[in-house]
Amino acid sequence: MPDPLVLSADPVPGTRLLVTGGARGIGRAVADAYAARGGRICILDRDPVADAPAGWISRQGSAASGPDIEAAFAAMDRAWGGVDVAHANAGMSANKASLELTEAEWRAVLDLNLTGVFLTAQAAARRMVPAGAGVILATSSIYGLTAGPNRAAYTATKGAVSNLVRSLASEWGPHGVRVNAIAPGYVQTDMLETLVQQGLIDRAALLARTTLGRLGRPADIAAMACFLGSPAAAWINGAIMSVDGGWLANGGP
Ligand SMILES: NC(=O)c1ccc[n+]([C@@H]2O[C@H](COP(=O)([O-])OP(=O)(O)OC[C@H]3O[C@@H](n4cnc5c(N)ncnc54)[C@H](O)[C@@H]3O)[C@@H](O)[C@H]2O)c1
Repeated sequence: MPDPLVLSADPVPGTRLLVTGGARGIGRAVADAYAARGGRICILDRDPVADAPAGWISRQGSAASGPDIEAAFAAMDRAWGGVDVAHANAGMSANKASLELTEAEWRAVLDLNLTGVFLTAQAAARRMVPAGAGVILATSSIYGLTAGPNRAAYTATKGAVSNLVRSLASEWGPHGVRVNAIAPGYVQTDMLETLVQQGLIDRAALLARTTLGRLGRPADIAAMACFLGSPAAAWINGAIMSVDGGWLANGGP
């Protein structure tokens, strides 16, 4: 007899979520979406979250710093006894010609986009592996699956995040911990707006390539984050899920 499909594509109510870079943009949309489904939310952001709803834990600190990351998880341990979903989302770009990229700029992008993701995943797994359950998510990018000029540090780190996720999924899957990445296309956030304003990204060209005819909304990415943290994703591990309006598929003019 076939199994009836009873698995929900929403996270279980009460899910304890940590999201880095959760003050704005994609991270905030993920936090809001989990909260709307009964989640308990902890944000780690370098900026204060002025409008955090009552009951959220909001930690100001760097998602590239081991001690700041550990302190955020420890706050969840104290408040809620652990973590169910950890989303390493904070990231930065350095869009400029590689001949002009400084060593400091290169290292700053690696620190946050790659080392920060590893340290967040490691701190989460230190709790999830003994518990025998948990979900770790990373925000990669379409530039973790393809590449382009003038974003060497960004593409290098996002490509590395894609393979880091596969490695950690292989290691921690046997312990009941799923590790997956989301690869967003161009999403309307402050990060994108800044690059457009600086003339580093051409909005019309993006729209022309995006087959669904619009830029992403943070909620489009949050929908995937909710699904990956839900029972319906119980057999998804080591995947890089592109959510890009068809941008990657459309290589041609
Ligand atoms: N917007 C896009 O088009 C797009 C596309 C693909 C991937 N991404 C990825 O999505 C993630 C989120 O991007 P976004 O567009 O929401 O950016 P955003 O600039 O709108 O928000 C980023 C958030 O991260 C925080 N942050 C930055 N550095 C931090 C640090 N060191 N420690 C803690 N918090 C820090 C910021 O304060 C902010 O709240 C990034 O990893 C980015 O690379 C974005």
